[in-house]
Amino acid sequence: MRERVLLNQGWEYIPQWRDEYVEPAANTEGFVRVNLPHANKEIPYNYFDEKDYQFISCYRRSFAYREAWVGKRVFADFDGVMAYCEVYLNGRLLGSHKGGYTPFAVDLTPALKFGENVLVVKVDSTERPDIPPFGYTIDYLCYGGMYRDIYLRIVDPVFIENIFAKPQNVLEEKKTLETTVFLANTTTEEQSLTVTVQLTRDGERVAEKTCTAAVEPGKSSLDVVLSDLESIELWDIDHPNLYQVEVTIAGGTGISDSYAVRIGFREAVVKADGFYLNGRKLMIRGLNRHQAFPYVGYAMPARVQRRDADILKYELSLNAVRTSHYPQSPHFLDRCDEIGLLVFEEIPGWQHIGDEGWQAVACENVREMIQRDWNHPSIFLWGVRINESQDCHGFYQQTNCIARELDPTRQTAGVRYIEGSEFLEDVYTMNDFIHSGGEHVLRDPKQVTKTKEYVPYMVTEFNGHMFPTKRFDQEERVMEHALRHLRVHNQAALDPHISGAFGWCAFDYNTHYDFGSGDRICYHGVMDMFRIPKPAAYFYASQTEPRNKPVLEPATRWTWGDRSIGGVLPLVIFTNCDRVRIKLHGHDLGEFYPATARYPGVPYPPVVIDKLEIGQWGVQWFEGEFIGIVDGEEVITKKFTPAPVPAKLVISPDDLELKADGMDATRVVFMVVDQMGNPLPYLTDAIEFQLEGPGELIGPAKTALIGGAIATWVRAGEEEGTITLKGVTSRLESEAVEIKVKK
Ligand code: GAL
Repeated sequence: MRERVLLNQGWEYIPQWRDEYVEPAANTEGFVRVNLPHANKEIPYNYFDEKDYQFISCYRRSFAYREAWVGKRVFADFDGVMAYCEVYLNGRLLGSHKGGYTPFAVDLTPALKFGENVLVVKVDSTERPDIPPFGYTIDYLCYGGMYRDIYLRIVDPVFIENIFAKPQNVLEEKKTLETTVFLANTTTEEQSLTVTVQLTRDGERVAEKTCTAAVEPGKSSLDVVLSDLESIELWDIDHPNLYQVEVTIAGGTGISDSYAVRIGFREAVVKADGFYLNGRKLMIRGLNRHQAFPYVGYAMPARVQRRDADILKYELSLNAVRTSHYPQSPHFLDRCDEIGLLVFEEIPGWQHIGDEGWQAVACENVREMIQRDWNHPSIFLWGVRINESQDCHGFYQQTNCIARELDPTRQTAGVRYIEGSEFLEDVYTMNDFIHSGGEHVLRDPKQVTKTKEYVPYMVTEFNGHMFPTKRFDQEERVMEHALRHLRVHNQAALDPHISGAFGWCAFDYNTHYDFGSGDRICYHGVMDMFRIPKPAAYFYASQTEPRNKPVLEPATRWTWGDRSIGGVLPLVIFTNCDRVRIKLHGHDLGEFYPATARYPGVPYPPVVIDKLEIGQWGVQWFEGEFIGIVDGEEVITKKFTPAPVPAKLVISPDDLELKADGMDATRVVFMVVDQMGNPLPYLTDAIEFQLEGPGELIGPAKTALIGGAIATWVRAGEEEGTITLKGVTSRLESEAVEIKVKK
């Protein structure tokens, strides 16, 4: 039976490389102990030199050989190392890998010995021009280090390499599951095996089939079909029903292995007239996500990756995400499966196509991405082009061919920004940045595709650099930012030939000096880098049924003089309520209805008020009250004070319990609010995070509020206990929260 051991803890690290480090007895002076995921260098929030993390470093870890491993094969499974690495065991080079976003396995068996074994990884985090996405400029950072998980995998000489479980005829009453089992026979003889495929749900058996197979030395595959499956519940965005497929093999020579994957039964297809999930038309409403965080870049553990999916689904009410521009954390994708968030996943790249060797790595990225992720029901499209690159016939014919051969169940797509680009994919996916505030919101798909007929078409980016917006920008700007997201989704929904749109983007992100605001940040998110919302986030948030969550977010700071010439008109209120009552200084100004005629495409248009009797600039300013009404009932209220002052420093941890593994982490948001509980977007007071107990802060302990709020992440130590954390500003102190750290 296989054994899989997480190897994240207890590495030794040095931010430099010397050839002698590969030797087991090398002098390790200067090495420090680290756990994974690990950033080779922590960086400031902004204004840093991105060259700071582009260097070659060394990670070392020893482990003891175990009796039980005799006669077995031992692999090191790497989930992701940026960007090139070499893997040595006991001084011997056993493998290398190009590309920082896809997994690879190194067979350690040839150099394994009794006693202590020393595993050394040389990690090259420079932007090597032979590896995608590098070679020219890129609008994102790739950070460095061993930033994902590593496992030791111990298997018998004949073992299961992978499983691809393909649900078929899922819309019929009796469904089929076709499972391809990929086997490796490392012996020199043919092996006869019994292969069992079992479909289960929550531990209960649904179906099972056993067959026998003669497996030649080397790699081979075997198809097992489970048919006439009844009472299967489909996976969809509201009911993400999941099943398990477990494959077990057993051979006469004492060989056994078992491997399980999680799947969902669903049919997802983009047609010329829209996207269909399980035969039902669904308008894609998504955002692009970079997997980056302040200070440590990509190196965040499972919990934090998973949380992002929750934010997209539950705080932003999205039904889809594009993993711009690379395969993202397996933990993030797992969570997308669990909560019903559709995913468009793509290979690493940004506009530039390199030489033949580079293209070969990109093709390998297609393979690695698909073979890693083909069982995720949430993934509905493979992006097999370099984002926004020019046409390149041979190269893209090849990437499409690889994808279709590996996975005939999903459509391919390739994101471009040029019109009339060669259509080699199944879905024409376009970054349409035409909207810059005026009447023109999206292009006609046929104008873009230059095809005779309409083809499956999706908008994969809009807004972004057309209107960078900081959370603490002036009211007119943050409101217009929100309206642009609204207008594009509205227009996409009204065009019968557009299957949906992904806005650019979910979260602000660190970038190279060539892009963004010069401080190494692209302020393109509807949330900032700490995942704190801008008003644009409220447009998305409001697109959910009020019984899930009533939303009432006036896009205003409620002041006389923040906008040019003053006032708060037009007043845009993002809400899913039937109507909104407004009071000024206790005086009823009436009820106002959503702008359905103006924005008929979105499920919940905002209330837009162009005229309101609230006086004019220069007269006294008063308290405002907004009351959201659903089915005749007042369900939500929001009040604004005319004279805000900092009243409370609110502390909001995402989790109150962490694992005592030295890696687990959670975000804690600090926000100063006024007397009515509203944020103060221009407050810049200093803040100190005071932490006690078995954990540490990720990032600085002393910093400044950014637009009245900020977050930090708390990383658990390896000891059990209780972390207490509070924030202290020059005027306020938050409550202290307790975060339990448990084994
Ligand atoms: C696109 C690109 C994105 C990002 C965006 C900014 O062209 O695909 O990665 O740079 O522009 O708006």
